[in-house]
Amino acid sequence: MLKRIALVLCSITATAAGLAAEKFVPNYDETRVPPYTLPNPLVCADGTAVRDAATWRNQRRPELLELFSREVYGRTPAGRPAKMHWAVTSTDRAALGGKAVRKEVTIWFTEKKDGPQMRLLMYQPVRATRQAPVPAFLGLNFNGNQCVSADPGITISDRWVRTNAAQKVVNNRVTKESRGLSARAWDVETVVARGYATATVYYGDLCEDRVEGFSRDVAPLFNTGSVEERRPDAWGAIGIWAWGLSRALDYLQSDPEIDGKRVAVHGHSRLGKTALWAGAQDERFAMVISNDSGCGGAALSLRRFGETVERINVSFPHWFAKNFRRYNAHEEALPVDQHELIALAAPRPLHVASAEGDPWADPRGEFLGAKHAEPVYALFGKKGLGVADMPRVDFPVLGDGLAYHIRTGPHAITAYDWAQYLDFADRMMQK
Ligand code: GCU
Repeated sequence: MLKRIALVLCSITATAAGLAAEKFVPNYDETRVPPYTLPNPLVCADGTAVRDAATWRNQRRPELLELFSREVYGRTPAGRPAKMHWAVTSTDRAALGGKAVRKEVTIWFTEKKDGPQMRLLMYQPVRATRQAPVPAFLGLNFNGNQCVSADPGITISDRWVRTNAAQKVVNNRVTKESRGLSARAWDVETVVARGYATATVYYGDLCEDRVEGFSRDVAPLFNTGSVEERRPDAWGAIGIWAWGLSRALDYLQSDPEIDGKRVAVHGHSRLGKTALWAGAQDERFAMVISNDSGCGGAALSLRRFGETVERINVSFPHWFAKNFRRYNAHEEALPVDQHELIALAAPRPLHVASAEGDPWADPRGEFLGAKHAEPVYALFGKKGLGVADMPRVDFPVLGDGLAYHIRTGPHAITAYDWAQYLDFADRMMQK
């Protein structure tokens, strides 16, 4: 009898999975994008029209932040933990063949040295001094700090890692062959040669990218609970990672060789979603960069093109607040869409990038996310992108406050992308 029930249950589950899979066939056809009306960033909940920067700042911006916190990413605890502290654990003033200074910093979130902590790696131009501090780029990485450069001086991460990238990860631990695994995606030498520092933290130091991640590191520090048992508006992994970016900024703002008022936060893909959310919440970030962030990032959810809200919540139940699941296949019920996330960065410069070979992230939806943030930039006298339609592939638009480009090639962050970010940063942050 029991066996029978088990069999029946099995077949029900299998059918449900089959049905779900069928429902998840992504739409890549522009003509099948359903008609939609975007929520208006310039109308407050009480009907007040936002006509000036003050109303935006005092009324509408806090309202939107609250909606994204409650309904999408979950709530972030305020500020830094009282006992958080850090130490520079190594400095090499002649790294990368004498072209850069390398620093490693451990940031402990409590008084305990064996408690939750993250390791920050930073390269800065040799000319950076207390008298002439340099601006910086800050972003999380996917496979441990040693992946961003082949520099043998980087401490190899001993943390759990998700991917089995190019066999350089064995049993979810990196091997020393993972040094420089993502060097092309970081382009450290170029960034430093252009006069910027570049800082990074392994995202798994904050929350491992799996449901089990909620039982260690930062989540328990704030009594988050498990992925399924947390409160409906409790944060998800994206919220935790974004919080980590703010804690990294706490350190950068204390480093006299860094100009803490000119730090750009960036990220690729899920970490691009994270960078947008970090930049929206923490106005100390001077610039925000979203590389191929897609669904839950720069792309409009209402378009349901490529990855959808339902698909992302099912595949990655730990990324967003549980509340976000209420909009699975009901995007029209969302009180916000992603152009409003982008608008939360205003008037700070924000750059959205897509790749032609990345329909899953909905390049047009990412462009429109930036485009529809323009009315908010206008409140600050900024034109935004200043183009009516999506630019052609490999013709970047570096506008006034907002930038967008789409390049040839796959879902990735490349030297081409960096070249655009650096040009935009030169314009926006080197003035
Ligand atoms: C998956 C996921 C995306 C995400 C991407 C990434 O493709 O569906 O939402 O951006 O992984 O982080 O690489």
